[in-house]
Amino acid sequence: SNVINTQIAIHTQFGGVVPEIASRQHVENISNVAKEALKEANMTFDDIDIIACTYGPGLVGALLVGVSYAKGLSYALNKPLVGTNHIEGHIAANYITNLNLKPPFLCLVVSGGHTELVYMKKEFSFEVIGTTFDDAIGEAYDKVGRVLHLPYPGGPVLDKMAHEGTHSYTLPKPLDDGSYNFSFSGLKSAVINLKHNADQRGEEINGNDLACSFQDVAMDTIASKALAAAHDLGVKQIIVAGGVSANKGLREKMSTSDIPVIFPPLKYCTDNAAMIASAASIMYKYNMFAPLDLSVKPDYDLEAESVGDNYE
Ligand code: KG4
Ligand code: ZN
Repeated sequence: SNVINTQIAIHTQFGGVVPEIASRQHVENISNVAKEALKEANMTFDDIDIIACTYGPGLVGALLVGVSYAKGLSYALNKPLVGTNHIEGHIAANYITNLNLKPPFLCLVVSGGHTELVYMKKEFSFEVIGTTFDDAIGEAYDKVGRVLHLPYPGGPVLDKMAHEGTHSYTLPKPLDDGSYNFSFSGLKSAVINLKHNADQRGEEINGNDLACSFQDVAMDTIASKALAAAHDLGVKQIIVAGGVSANKGLREKMSTSDIPVIFPPLKYCTDNAAMIASAASIMYKYNMFAPLDLSVKPDYDLEAESVGDNYE
């Protein structure tokens, strides 16, 4: 089972995630979500083997709730605890329906907090070869969505609108420098300025066309950099991870690749528990357990924590 308790309706009133409200909601919902997950799976706590949680990166308050609850369960049930990295979880979402998938591959990580090209030579070895200098792609979508008065999160809404529009607005190509790095603040500001200028002149913006123009430019950059990196590295497969991997425009652009590209099924793209279970099941295989004094790591850096060299 993969139960999701979404807080979107609450945060939408504020145009984004309010950290204190997020942690409070986690406290209020976590036991019910765990109970619901067992009920859906038709299991009890006795039937499970491992307790897994995310301990970073992310918002400290929300992470603390999950880690504390997992430690409590692990201690009370006397079952091993596995602590995962959130991004490693997004990557592992791809294993759920591709059980034989194994590195080496290039991961394109695109979420609300990350835009990275990660070269995985083997399990637990993460080399970040490209990253964003400013906004993550999901963050840029959400900020553009806010300026266009769309509900939070703007990403999925803009994706839908983009498919109803045409690329009719001229927008700057982000960081067209031949590197693997990204920068979306210039593109985001161009969209925001376009909207503000039109408002001041009393002109109407065609929202669908603007969404299409923004998506086309953003996804073109992401797809072409990912494909160039995969060719340069000589990898045989690319896997895409993170909330923005649900994006139709990105899926279309990557479909022209001559190197096979794997996307998670839509239900495993945005944050979910199954992806964490998937990451944890690999760690379990390698006996990578967490101590009961595991603490949260809001700035947990995937690359700095690579442990691949210990596991050949
Ligand atoms: O991975 P995720 O659920 O949470 C983070 O770890 O950040 O990603 C959430 C992000 C949000 O910014 C949301 O707008 C974006 O993913 N997103 C999308 C789409 N679906 C979700 N962005 C573009 N197109 C989509 N279809
Ligand atoms: Zn995420």
